Amino acid sequence: MPNLVGRRALVTGGAGGLGSVAVRTLLGMGADDVLVVGRDQAKLEAFQKTDPGRISIHAMDVADEAGWHQLRDRPIDVLIPAAGVAHREPFLDSTQEHWNEMLGTNIVGSMLAVQTLLPGMVDRGFGRIILISSVAAHIGLPGRAVYAATKAALEAWVRCVVAEVGGHDVLINCLAPGMFPTKMTTGWLAANPDVAEGIRSAIPEKRFGDPEELAAAFRFLVETTYAQGSVLHIDGGWGIV
Ligand SMILES: NC(=O)c1ccc[n+]([C@@H]2O[C@H](COP(=O)([O-])OP(=O)(O)OC[C@H]3O[C@@H](n4cnc5c(N)ncnc54)[C@H](OP(=O)(O)O)[C@@H]3O)[C@@H](O)[C@H]2O)c1
Repeated sequence: MPNLVGRRALVTGGAGGLGSVAVRTLLGMGADDVLVVGRDQAKLEAFQKTDPGRISIHAMDVADEAGWHQLRDRPIDVLIPAAGVAHREPFLDSTQEHWNEMLGTNIVGSMLAVQTLLPGMVDRGFGRIILISSVAAHIGLPGRAVYAATKAALEAWVRCVVAEVGGHDVLINCLAPGMFPTKMTTGWLAANPDVAEGIRSAIPEKRFGDPEELAAAFRFLVETTYAQGSVLHIDGGWGIV
């Protein structure tokens, strides 16, 4: 598919670090409209000003089923549920409140997005969905047990959804980033310089990723006509060591 002219997209967490790269990439590919979903209305309004003609906004919690009901008639061609939260804490010290927040946003939020918008894609015979997994789903990292579980669950769930709804040019894939400085990670990296250095030196490329380096991956997962149910690892090699 050469471009997204005439297509509409929805990106949850689209005003965030990685989500905003996804939004800019889709706009760069010519998307008519990108609907950006997040909880913070002021943040959404500020982000909309970067391209007011083609960015629309909708404030809601992605784990809120009623919020998705309001969006179910939108003809969305490209869906990127990028909203996510990460609590870093030893599993034995972690709280069910934090488990529920991560499960609700990372898993249930992605499931609701797909359950809401996938039927329209199947009816129209076109769709691209990119779920945001993580290197954490593939390697054992201290302090990430529940976060990693949400991302691993995402990948397992996608495989089954693909097995159920294949055959309509609706391609559903996961992107598994490594370490990229965003609001989710920078404060924690700065507060834990020794751990940050340990991660950096463990990554074969010996550096964290620049969020803009994910643009090519988003573009590929939109342009592909045959990648289905796959996991694209963009992590400087971290996941293989
Ligand atoms: N950064 C990394 O190194 C990295 C690595 C692997 C995977 N990831 C994944 O990439 C995705 C994006 O993360 P990021 O690094 O871009 O983090 P970020 O900059 O903190 O952005 C996350 C966005 O998600 C939105 N969000 C969070 N909870 C929400 C909820 N319940 N409902 C609606 N929106 C919600 C936030 O918007 P509001 O503030 O408006 O709620 C925020 O804009 C996440 O799924 C994360 O797990 C990140």
